[in-house]
Amino acid sequence: MDIKSKMNTKFRDLQGGLFLTVTKADVGEGAGNFQKNGGDIMAWADPFFPDPSIPDSVKKALLDAVESGIPAHYVMPIGMLELRQALAEKIHKNTGLDIDPSRNVIVTPGSDSGLLYSMMPFICEGDEVMVPDPSYPSNFLNPKLLGGVTVPVPLYEEDNYQIRIEEFEKRVTPRTKLVLITHPNNPTTTVFRRESIEKLCEFVIKHDLILVSDQAFEDHIYDGIEFVHPATLPGMWERTLTVCSISKGLGFSGFRIGYIYANDRIMDVLYGGAVNVLGAASTLGSIGAVAAVKDEEYLKSNYVRLERRRRLAYEVLSTIPGVKMKMSESGILSWLDISALGTAEEVSEYIMKHANIMVNQGTPYGEQGAGHLRIVTACFAKDEDAVLRFERIKAALTQLAREKGII
Ligand SMILES: Cc1ncc(COP(=O)(O)O)c(C=O)c1O
Repeated sequence: MDIKSKMNTKFRDLQGGLFLTVTKADVGEGAGNFQKNGGDIMAWADPFFPDPSIPDSVKKALLDAVESGIPAHYVMPIGMLELRQALAEKIHKNTGLDIDPSRNVIVTPGSDSGLLYSMMPFICEGDEVMVPDPSYPSNFLNPKLLGGVTVPVPLYEEDNYQIRIEEFEKRVTPRTKLVLITHPNNPTTTVFRRESIEKLCEFVIKHDLILVSDQAFEDHIYDGIEFVHPATLPGMWERTLTVCSISKGLGFSGFRIGYIYANDRIMDVLYGGAVNVLGAASTLGSIGAVAAVKDEEYLKSNYVRLERRRRLAYEVLSTIPGVKMKMSESGILSWLDISALGTAEEVSEYIMKHANIMVNQGTPYGEQGAGHLRIVTACFAKDEDAVLRFERIKAALTQLAREKGII
């Protein structure tokens, strides 16, 4: 029986690494087996992975919750009220928006499901979704899974990956429905500047589109760069869904808590489908998230650690012969132009073989990711453990540079 012939065509071509090798580190058993065999994974955007990193305040909340027995039970499908209240306060503090926890926020089991859910009510068969390239790989796949068409819009390294609105204008058609940005950008770490965001929002309004803003990395912006929230710009609140996460900014990917905020006309529909599509987030994760969001000291110290880490990463990785990179503007990643050393596939495989470290090839992040690697430089709790890995990558690539005759 040809089981694939029974499948929806949008799913038929998905590959989980069982029959063909898949280059993405988040698919199948590849990364797990690599780690089991002693390799280091610096390919999952997960701060301090794989080391323990739960602060005492959160640990206490979790232990108390387990003692109480509450985590055995559901939270509301739209999310635990106490968590929605804590998130509403956080959003208000960051944006100035008046967020009603019972009308404007929904908790999702991680923001990956939130990203798909945020587009579900809007995408009809054949609708086009514009996605800057490079971007988070799921954001290229999600529109297709919903029956839409993904339209990558190039960002250029020479522009520091800011938005060229002409590239959007060139690609807009009567079928364009939605623009989906990752802001700050994963993989480049770029924070779209005010001018980029304002032009993009004017474009969205001019063509009567919806904006989904994937802000999983919004909590760590460095060097005093202004972070402009698209939902706050004139005319945008009624047409923007902002998708956030506690995985990166708060460092709790394992709790599986994401959230969407939007106006109540949109939220009514998301609340209405919550049971069917999302189920509900984890009760224990929700309790941990409340404690984490309220622990200002922890959030501050996390910021200091991650800011220091991106500098340590830059100090080592930018001195590798044949590598070009900028200091990260946000988050937990470094983005390296390794095109002088080979393709992303060749160079990542070389690092795997000679440094025993898994990093991300740039190509799943879009065509503009060719010749690049993404390294999750915030892995490992201790700076010295991370720096050891940076040095191992440097030693391997210096050897490769020698083989290529660059030095
Ligand atoms: C840009 C971006 N958005 C969303 C997610 C999803 O994260 P989570 O489902 O843990 O919230 C990721 C995960 O890597 C990401 O990089």
